[in-house]
Amino acid sequence: MTIEKTFSIVKPDAVKRNLIGAIYQRFENAGLKIVAAKMLQLTKVQAQGFYAEHEGKPFFDELVDFMTSGPVMVQVLEGEDAIVRYRELMGKTNPQEAACGTIRADFAISLRYNSVHGSDSPVSAEREIGYFFAADELCPRS
Ligand code: TYD
Ligand code: MG
Repeated sequence: MTIEKTFSIVKPDAVKRNLIGAIYQRFENAGLKIVAAKMLQLTKVQAQGFYAEHEGKPFFDELVDFMTSGPVMVQVLEGEDAIVRYRELMGKTNPQEAACGTIRADFAISLRYNSVHGSDSPVSAEREIGYFFAADELCPRS
C-alpha cells in the first residue's frame, strides 16, 4: 500500500456552476483526503506554465483562456494510490468517453470544459503540487 499525494483543480466551468462541494464530496467518498486547498484566479502566465507540456498544440491558447476565465479551486489529495485512483475517479479527458459515475461523465460540459484536472504520474504530481503550494501549506492527515 502506497500513500500518495496528487494535485487537483476544480476548473472554472465547475466553480461557475457551484459544483465545488459536489466535487469535493466525490473526493471524500473515494477516500481521498484534502490536505491543502485554495481558490485562485490564475494569470495567463501561471496557466501557460502549468500546462507547458501542451504548448504548441492546437488547443493550447483556448485551454489557457478557459483556465483564466474565472476562479479555480486547487487542492492536494492524499490517499492510497491517489494518483491513479483520482485519474479513475475523474474519468477520461473527453466526458463523452468517460465511464458512468465519474466526475467528468457527471459534471463536464465538453472536452475543453471538463470540470477537473488531475496529475497523470508521480513526477507530474510533485511538479504540480510544488507549482501551487509551499511545503508548509500541506497538512498531512493520518
Ligand atoms: P490532457 O493533459 O491531455 O488531459 P487531462 O486533463 O485528462 O490530463 O489535456 C489537458 C486539458 O486540455 C484537458 O483537460 C482538456 C484540454 N484539451 C482540449 O481542450 N482539447 C484536446 O484535444 C485535448 C487533448 C485536451
Ligand atoms: Mg494532463
